[in-house]
Amino acid sequence: MNHIRLGVNVDHVASIRQSRGTPYPDPVLAAFLAEQAGADQITVHLREDRRHIQERDLEVLRRTVATELNLEMAAADEVLEVACRIRPDMATLVPERRQERTTEHGLAVAGEEAGIEPCIRRLRDAGIRVSLFVDPDLATVRAAAALGVEQVELHTGFYAEARGARRAGELERIRAAASEAGRLGLCVAAGHGLDYGNVRDICLIQEVMELNIGHSIISRAVFCGIEEAVREMMARIADAEAGRE
Ligand code: PXP
Repeated sequence: MNHIRLGVNVDHVASIRQSRGTPYPDPVLAAFLAEQAGADQITVHLREDRRHIQERDLEVLRRTVATELNLEMAAADEVLEVACRIRPDMATLVPERRQERTTEHGLAVAGEEAGIEPCIRRLRDAGIRVSLFVDPDLATVRAAAALGVEQVELHTGFYAEARGARRAGELERIRAAASEAGRLGLCVAAGHGLDYGNVRDICLIQEVMELNIGHSIISRAVFCGIEEAVREMMARIADAEAGRE
């Protein structure tokens, strides 16, 4: 049986570097060590304001990542040109707002197809698989499927932030969206706000086959190193996955 793939997002290694303008710490080295520890994918977000990952990081990662490179990006011309030149294995389209601390919502797909579709086509023509980062909402999942993308990544941020009874409701929304996406033939990924505690319930959802996790892994790596932090997350995922068989 396929196991749940772990994509490690190394943006925050670059955040530390950019905060002081030093050449270190290097997200490329972080990606290498994450792969050595068993990560299945390296994920980075090239933001319009370049607050963490730089174009050069992406160029070097394209040459050094031995697993898969997943580029999170806005559906905007400037970054689209970069993506088509560098050719990550997958592009994950996300909405982007300059003022936000991190991506706050999934892509509004229904009603916005005319803006997104040309971007998907250009990525596809460059040989790049496309994933849409979407809120766990049935209408949005159906609109994503209608655009013919390979994958949706379900936004788990609302679940991660919810407390008490609300959390069960948010989990149920993800479960329903994952089930619908699976029924429509989409690969199902999930991400945002996942940590060593809350990842379990997401892994128990049958359709989820990929997780993209950054902040919690890089935070733990400060104390125990990135390899140990990745191994620990992989162990949690494997443990939960055993529970869904
Ligand atoms: N997936 C997507 C689409 C994201 O935008 C992000 C944040 O860059 C992540 C996953 C990782 O989120 P976190 O850093 O909260 O684990």
